[in-house]
Formats: sequence, structure tokens, C-alpha cells
Amino acid sequence: MNGVRRRTVLRLGVAAAATAGLATGCAALTGEQAGTTLRSDLTPPEPFRVRLPIPATAEPVSPGRFEVTQRVADVEIIPGTTTRVWGYDGTFPGPTFDVRRGEPVTVTIHNELPAPTSTHLHGGVTPADSDGYPTDLIVPTGLDFEPGHGSHMEVKEWRLHDGSREYEYPLDQPAATLWYHDHRMDFTAPQVWRGLAGMFLIRDDDEDRLDLPRGEYELPLMLCDRAFEDDGSFKYPSIDDSLLGVPGVEGDYHQGVEGDVILVNGAPWPEASVANTMYRLRLLNASNARRFELAMDEVGFTQIGSDSGLLPQPQELETLTIAPAERFDVLVDFSQVPVGTRVVLRNRLGSDGTDVVMRFHVDREAESGAAVPRRLVEPATMTPDEVVAARTFAFALTNQGDHQMWTINGRPFDPEQSLASPRLDTVERWTFTSDFHHPVHVHMAHFQVLTRNGKPPAPEDAGWKDTVDLRPYEVVEVAIKFSGHRGRYMIHCHNLEHEDMAMMANFDVV
Ligand code: C2O
Ligand code: CU
Repeated sequence: MNGVRRRTVLRLGVAAAATAGLATGCAALTGEQAGTTLRSDLTPPEPFRVRLPIPATAEPVSPGRFEVTQRVADVEIIPGTTTRVWGYDGTFPGPTFDVRRGEPVTVTIHNELPAPTSTHLHGGVTPADSDGYPTDLIVPTGLDFEPGHGSHMEVKEWRLHDGSREYEYPLDQPAATLWYHDHRMDFTAPQVWRGLAGMFLIRDDDEDRLDLPRGEYELPLMLCDRAFEDDGSFKYPSIDDSLLGVPGVEGDYHQGVEGDVILVNGAPWPEASVANTMYRLRLLNASNARRFELAMDEVGFTQIGSDSGLLPQPQELETLTIAPAERFDVLVDFSQVPVGTRVVLRNRLGSDGTDVVMRFHVDREAESGAAVPRRLVEPATMTPDEVVAARTFAFALTNQGDHQMWTINGRPFDPEQSLASPRLDTVERWTFTSDFHHPVHVHMAHFQVLTRNGKPPAPEDAGWKDTVDLRPYEVVEVAIKFSGHRGRYMIHCHNLEHEDMAMMANFDVV
């Protein structure tokens, strides 16, 4: 039996579970929970016992050239245990890139893992060839790998690089909080879960002119959830743990996998020691499926940037909802509380431990010298009459023959097909519709939310974005600008289990 058929048979089992879930699990479908919780076998550690780690900064080997090696490493995540991670340079999160607009970089990725990878710079205005297409793979030297074995789709065109490849990032885009992560066909979810994600910060002169907190007063915070086996290893419901055979997850987890341990920069419910001054937090939700509604005890957030850059002016948010792959660049002012205060960052969508994210201990006096700027950057100049075309993308579970799959416009991902051909340097109006929680992500092109359910956008929709949170049965309209590069790019759901189960499509910028 070939891989394609085996997969189809397997899907029947998944579909039966899906239907049962639809009938009995209505709370999950209409509520705020975007996935199914996978419980750890070990007892989760006490919160706030581990110090917040700050990932290393990626250092160039020569100006503009970076080398990163993906490898297996054993690290301590849960105190007293070791976890085997798949990491960029063997770390989870990977090193943080700290780079500047207009200074292009080349990143050579070496793959020493036991499986192929593809690396995508999320939010990058990247030439198509370097965008981390799912079938454009770095195969570890010597690995016996049969492309597409067990896949839901027969892919004709694979590009396989032996051991390593270079990615070119022109960085001709405004200062923003980006991230990079694995994007391998059918296996993105388990490979990111094992640790293949890191932050990528772009700075520019416009940002430098603002008095924003710098250095130790700027904290990248990668939020995600994981579950753990008894021995401290990551727990994940893969059908095939080798990640070389049949892709996908078992049973009910097709909705998305949520862990019961919250990690920040790879540490469980950490504590950061901070001074009583203004900080800049670069928040990224790197979870496969979990959404957070973040709130701080005693202090609010001043949002200064979204996914793809700074806002025209800051906005105050008491809470903020962050879906997978979204970023929020915020200022928080710890001078509002006395030295000695412990400020908890909470998740209002969580329960049973996942309602807490981390804690800040305001343990000293210092002055970051920063103030909240009144204006940040020039507002964007897109106007409705620039729109040259309108298209709709429906994200839904649909019947495919005798089973159900996560699809866009009724179709599972087909690398041979393209759903749209927007022209370079034009603006289009795209409408996204949804039957469940689907964080919709577009590669290369950035957009602004025009309406949400026919009403004005939510506060969280502000600014230039590349990912937008759709809840069940929501309709979001965006104005999307195709500046940058021609070529084949992707639109997909960033619930990584949905993405792996075919909720992905090509579009061609022409
Ligand atoms: Cu963050 Cu196509 O992905
Ligand atoms: Cu989805």
C-alpha cells in the first residue's frame, strides 16, 4: 500500500474522532480554548522557581553572515529532569537575531537532526526561494529519507539540500518583532514543539529616534505551552515519533495540541527580576494552538508595535489576546508599584495552572531613561480606493470524500495549486472566514484589519500584521499590500496541527 492511501485510511479514524468531538465538545468549539489539552505525566513544577532565561544573541561569523546548526541537545527545563530538544544551535528557544533594516543577512542552516527541516522567517519580506517552503528541505547528511512518505498528498516537486543551505534575508522592512521556526511539510507542529523556534528582531533609525527601553530593559518573551512525560521529555501525540513516517496526531488532538505547562523563553512559569522602571516586552505566542489573554496585576500594557512594526501611536491595553504566531510589542511601567512588589502576568483564558504565565519581581531601583513616546511612526497610507481585487478565504473543516480535513476554500493543501495571483505593488481586500479558532497567517505580504464581523477592528488588530486571530464563525476583512518580491508564497492557519493537516495554500505574487 502506498503512503497516500495509508494516510487516507488513517484519516478515517481521525474523522470519526472529529465528528464525535463536534457532537459532544461544543464548549471547545465555541469557547476560547483553541485545542485539546495534553496532560503531563510528571507533576508540573511550582511556579516562579526558575529565573527567566534570555536566549543568546546570534553572532555573525563575518559581517552579515550567520551560521546556525540545528541539533539535538539535552537541557534542563523542568528542574531535576532533562528534556531532549531539537534546537537551533541546540538551544530552545534558538538564538535571538538582532539585526538592522537595510543590512541584508545570509543565514546558513546546518541540519544535524534526525529529520529534514525547512526554516521560515515569520514576518519576513523574503524572496520566495529563501522563504522556507515546506517541500524545500535540508536533509541531514546520510539520512535515509523518502520524501512524502505517508503524506496526505502526492508532492511531485521536492527540493532537497544535503546537510545545509543558505537563506537570504534582505531586511528591507521596518523595525519589528519577527520570529523564525520550522516549516517542514506535514511535520511543522511536532518539530516546533521539540524546540525549533527563535526570535528575530529588526531595528531601524525610526525606532532609534524614540526613547524606548534598551539593553537590559528590553525583554524578548517567547510564550508557549508544552506537556512532559514522567522523565521530563516532551510529550506529544504524534502518530509516528520518528517524524519520518506517517504525519499527524492521534485521536482528538487534530483540533490542536495544548500543553499544561506554560514556558517563557523555554522555562516553566519563570520569574524575572526587574527594576522599578519602564520596560519593553516583545511578546510572541509560539504555541502550536494555545491562545492567551494576558493581564498583569497592578500594571497595564502600552502597546507600541504589532506583528510587522510599530504603531502610529501607542495604545493602552488592560488585557491583550494573543493568538499563535502573533507578536505584541508593549511597554510596562514597573515604577507604578513599590520596590518589593511581585507582579504576576496572567492568562485569563487558562485554568489549572495555565492561568499563570510568569512573575516579575520588582526588586531594585533604577531608571531606564525611557518614556512613552506620544507618536511612534508615520501612519500607513493605504486607502480603500487602492484596492484592486477582493478575495475570500474560508478556513473550515470540510468533508473530503469519506473523511474530514482542515481546508481553505474547501481544499486541502496542494503544492501544485495556487489560490490567488495578486500583482506586485498592489493592494487587495482579503476576507477570512472561520468555523473554529484559526490564526490566519500570510507570508511576505503585510496587512491591516479593516473590519471584524462587520464592525471596527478589535484593539488587538491595530497596526501592520501578518497573523490575525479568528475565533469560531468570525469574519475578518483586511487590506493587504503585496510589496517586496514576486513568487510563490503561502497563506495558512497557524494552529500548527491544522497547518500540518493541510490548512495551507499557495498564492503567487506576479
Ligand atoms: Cu509562522 Cu508559514 O509560518
Ligand atoms: Cu486552524
